[in-house]
Amino acid sequence: MSEHFDVYGGARLVGEVEVVGAKNSVLKLMAAALLAEGTTTISNCPQILDVPLMADVLRSVGCEVEMNGDVTRITTPAELSHRADSPAMGKLRASVCVLGPLVGRLKRAVVALPGGDAIGSRPLDMHQNGLRKLGATSAIEHGCVVAEADGLHGAQIWLDFPSVGATENILMAAVLAEGTTVIDNAAREPEIIDLCTMLTEMGARIEGAGTSTLTVEGVDSLHPTEHRVIGDRIVGATWAFAASMTQGDVTVTGVDPHHLDLVLDKLRLAGADVTAYDGKGFRVVQDGRPKAVDFVTLPYPGFATDLQPFAVALSAVSDGTSMITENVYEARFRFIEEMVRLGADARTDGHHAVVRGVERLSSAPVWASDIRAGAGLVLAGLCAEGVTEVWDVFHIDRGYPAFVENLNRLGARVERVTAEPDRVVAE
Ligand code: UD1
Repeated sequence: MSEHFDVYGGARLVGEVEVVGAKNSVLKLMAAALLAEGTTTISNCPQILDVPLMADVLRSVGCEVEMNGDVTRITTPAELSHRADSPAMGKLRASVCVLGPLVGRLKRAVVALPGGDAIGSRPLDMHQNGLRKLGATSAIEHGCVVAEADGLHGAQIWLDFPSVGATENILMAAVLAEGTTVIDNAAREPEIIDLCTMLTEMGARIEGAGTSTLTVEGVDSLHPTEHRVIGDRIVGATWAFAASMTQGDVTVTGVDPHHLDLVLDKLRLAGADVTAYDGKGFRVVQDGRPKAVDFVTLPYPGFATDLQPFAVALSAVSDGTSMITENVYEARFRFIEEMVRLGADARTDGHHAVVRGVERLSSAPVWASDIRAGAGLVLAGLCAEGVTEVWDVFHIDRGYPAFVENLNRLGARVERVTAEPDRVVAE
């Protein structure tokens, strides 16, 4: 048996929705707790599958983790295991973020290669090269990254690409290295700033958070802290796209609208009226059919690759033709095959997609291949005639707390159903 969502088409989303802490921040903050002996408390945690999975990863190296509502308490012992190779490691990408803290604290780590969304090749070369610059050896052996150092020293590191994960791992090793580390071409995502903020609260010395040059002065040890996770800009943007696609009126709270400046500007170009909401978020009102706009994914502050499925879904129902360019993950366009099943007029050529908007999509059974593709299909289903079945919804549950409940509260009709799928997916 498997779970799917029945998404009833023809909804117009209206109302207010609160966004909680960012998945792509909380998981790294949990890993950062390994850097300090004692109890670290993280609040505003989203209740999504990846948080308990990350808790299992931390338990496997010796931590105690207690989750209570939106608060996660991690107690890190004086003696940690350097082996993070439990089965939980393969279930999410962020598990690889224990590598930097383990190397930082223990000077050695055996970390199973991570899992996560099937969105294209996800090598770890930049993570490994960064650790090597800090004085560690690093190799892939028997499905694990094995890293070892006599001691870590500061270094000048240039990243080939502003990788989020590599920036985080190198940063978390560098905070306990001797001397100064400079990471150039570092990622600038708000989640990196959140991690830098928490590490600084723990006693780390970091300058340049949010810029492409991070300077870290190594310290001897860090102490635990209490930290509140920033709001999830990707979830916030999902609601913004949903408002525009369904010609609705949605107020989104709990997320900093400045983290979505470019995204909200795109929606304005699509014809939405986007306004700030009382210092708490923003409101998106779309009157009439959205107009086609082009999208190009790039590292922050560019348009996030995680939002590309929503760009495709919006374009599919817009008036006109959109070009969408994917520069980060080549396999993300696989989602378009499912959109075509829903009647989208879309085709891809390399890392470009051309989407000619249609007046209305039409329902079909479709399969989620990753978190954002899954949510994108649900939004498309809201604009399709009939009832769209979205399968493999466990992907969506990894990233969206109370997704169905929130959709229904905003006036959609979406039901979670447990049943046997009647389509066999060919490999
Ligand atoms: C994070 C996010 C993911 C988001 C992505 C880009 C988490 C858990 N996931 O993933 O949702 O889509 O940022 O915003 O936070 N690369 C290399 N070598 C490396 C590392 C990365 O070639 O050593 C490449 C990747 O294949 C990809 C690009 O760099 O093409 C970006 O990857 P990266 O920023 O590292 O993404 P993640 O941290 O894995």
